[in-house]
Amino acid sequence: MTSKIAPANGKILIAPSILSADLFRLGEEVKRVENAGADWLHVDIMDGHFVPNLSFGPAIVSSLNGKTALPLDVHLMVEHPEQFLEPFARAGADLLTVHAEAGNNVSDVLKQIHSLGVKAGVSIKPDTAPEVLSGVLGQVDLILVMSVYPGFGGQSFLPQSPARIRQVRELINSSGRNIWLEVDGGINAETAPLVLQAGADVLVAGSAIFSAGDPVQALYQIKQAAPHS
Ligand code: DX5
Ligand code: ZN
Repeated sequence: MTSKIAPANGKILIAPSILSADLFRLGEEVKRVENAGADWLHVDIMDGHFVPNLSFGPAIVSSLNGKTALPLDVHLMVEHPEQFLEPFARAGADLLTVHAEAGNNVSDVLKQIHSLGVKAGVSIKPDTAPEVLSGVLGQVDLILVMSVYPGFGGQSFLPQSPARIRQVRELINSSGRNIWLEVDGGINAETAPLVLQAGADVLVAGSAIFSAGDPVQALYQIKQAAPHS
C-alpha cells in the first residue's frame, strides 16, 4: 500500500469533509469538489463512544478508493483505534489520524499505521494541551487541531483555536520535521484567514462547502483566503 500524501511542503491544502455531503449523490459531490481544486478528501469516522455520534466505517473508504484521485484523509474519532487501522488501510486510506485522547499508547498506534504503509496523524480536541504532542513529533506526518468539539458538522469555530494552532506551529518548527498542520471545525471564508495566519496548512471544511448553495464557489472562496495556494 502506498500513500498519495506527500510530506508537508509549504502548500496550503483544502480537504472537504464528506460528513456534510449529500450521501445519495456522494460520487457527484466528490467529483465536483475534485474538479473545483480540492486537495484531499476528509472522511470522519465516529463510533458513538469517543464522540456522541455515529458516521461511517471502512466501506465508505472502499467505495471512494479508485473513484477519485484525491488522497483519502481519514479522521478516526474512535476508541481503540488500533482495532480499525488495518481495515481502513485495506480500504484505501492514505492517511489515518488518531486522537491523542483515545486512551492508548499513541506512539505504538502511529508505528502500527506506518507499518501498514499509510501516513500517520494525531489530533487534539479543544481542551487538550498541545504539549501532549511533544513525545510523538518525531513520528507524525500530520497534526490535526480541532477547532470545535468533535462529533458534529456545522458547529461554530472556537475563538481560542488560533492561539492553539500557533503553539502547535512552534512545536512543529522546533522539531525540524515536515509535518502538516491541519485544522478541522467551523472553517469557512471568514475563519480560514485566522487559522492560516496562525500557521495551519491544511483546512478541513464540511458544511461551509457541502451545505452551501454553490459548493464550487464556496471552496473557491476558502482557497482565496490562502495567498499562494
Ligand atoms: C467534526 C468533524 C469535522 C466536520 C467539520 O467532528 O471532525 O471534520 O466534518 O464540519 P464543519 O466544517 O461543518 O465544521
Ligand atoms: Zn474531521
